Amino acid sequence: MYNFSMKRFYDFFIQKAQDYYSTNPKIGRGDFFTSPELDEAFGKSIAYFLKDYLDTFDNPKILELGAGNGIMAKDILEVLDIPYIIYETSPYLTDVQRSLLKDKNVVWISSLELVDAFEGVVLSNEFFDALGIAPVKDKMELYIESSKELWQEPHEDTKKIIDILQIDDAYYELPIDSFYIYEKISRILRKGYMLTIDYGYKTSPRKNTIRGYKNSKIVQNIYTDEIFDITYMVDFSMLQRIGEHFGFKNVFLKKQRDFLIEIPYFVKTLEEVCQEEDAYSIERCSRLKNLILSMGESFYVLLQEKP
Ligand SMILES: C[S@@+](CC[C@H](N)C(=O)[O-])C[C@H]1O[C@@H](n2cnc3c(N)ncnc32)[C@H](O)[C@@H]1O
Repeated sequence: MYNFSMKRFYDFFIQKAQDYYSTNPKIGRGDFFTSPELDEAFGKSIAYFLKDYLDTFDNPKILELGAGNGIMAKDILEVLDIPYIIYETSPYLTDVQRSLLKDKNVVWISSLELVDAFEGVVLSNEFFDALGIAPVKDKMELYIESSKELWQEPHEDTKKIIDILQIDDAYYELPIDSFYIYEKISRILRKGYMLTIDYGYKTSPRKNTIRGYKNSKIVQNIYTDEIFDITYMVDFSMLQRIGEHFGFKNVFLKKQRDFLIEIPYFVKTLEEVCQEEDAYSIERCSRLKNLILSMGESFYVLLQEKP
């Protein structure tokens, strides 16, 4: 039995996510593989895609949110020579990133308040799915007491965001922390773009998408003191609405598959690798195909502009 006094599900989610990311998360080694972990062509394709956008600024920078093992940053910096900032709150992962990127032009920040305003791109892969959410239904908010779920009057923060986003009475996983991340980014990104990649839905699914994963298996009861990866499916229509509230314009929202196959570097790499017949190329070809088939279907890419 997991015992605690009544708390917001939102606080429970944040605590679980923090516990997981601060204690040797198995990104790419058991709990889950992310796209950058699958193949270097992912990060490099993003770099080629961003090049045209970045070339429109005099002194652009890239800010990556939640860089995991640092692999996407490494691949991007092999293509682009650009100042790179990583926002990371896990001391464990910051160390992993520092050792991978020791020769690169990277600075780390653990708070978005520490960045001077800049022009360029804010980038993330599988970042927003780890941020605190508050499930709401009939404008009531989910609280928990030990393992019991209770619907209560919403916290004032939740209420404020329900009003701003004009949420109706259906079930939503209100992305409270995403809201505050956008608020901060709207202050530090003077002009530029935000490229957000994550699994999720184009429109609100209006159903429970919260899951716990451990060693690639679903955790049946998330209300335990075990450490596991807690996550939910990102509702991209919410991120679009939040972005608009903070002055961003939507450029596009498309499946990862469509995004990648429009990048000539990705298509060329796929063709070259998949025509080879050695064991390494065959395996690599299957990983590249995963980026456009399985992950290509369930992941979306959102580009927003801060004019
Ligand atoms: C699912 S991992 C994705 C890692 C990486 N982007 C990738 O695709 O491999 C989530 C990342 O976001 C970081 N993170 C989670 N919550 C965060 C928060 N509130 N603020 C900053 N970083 C956070 C984690 O430490 C981790 O680096």
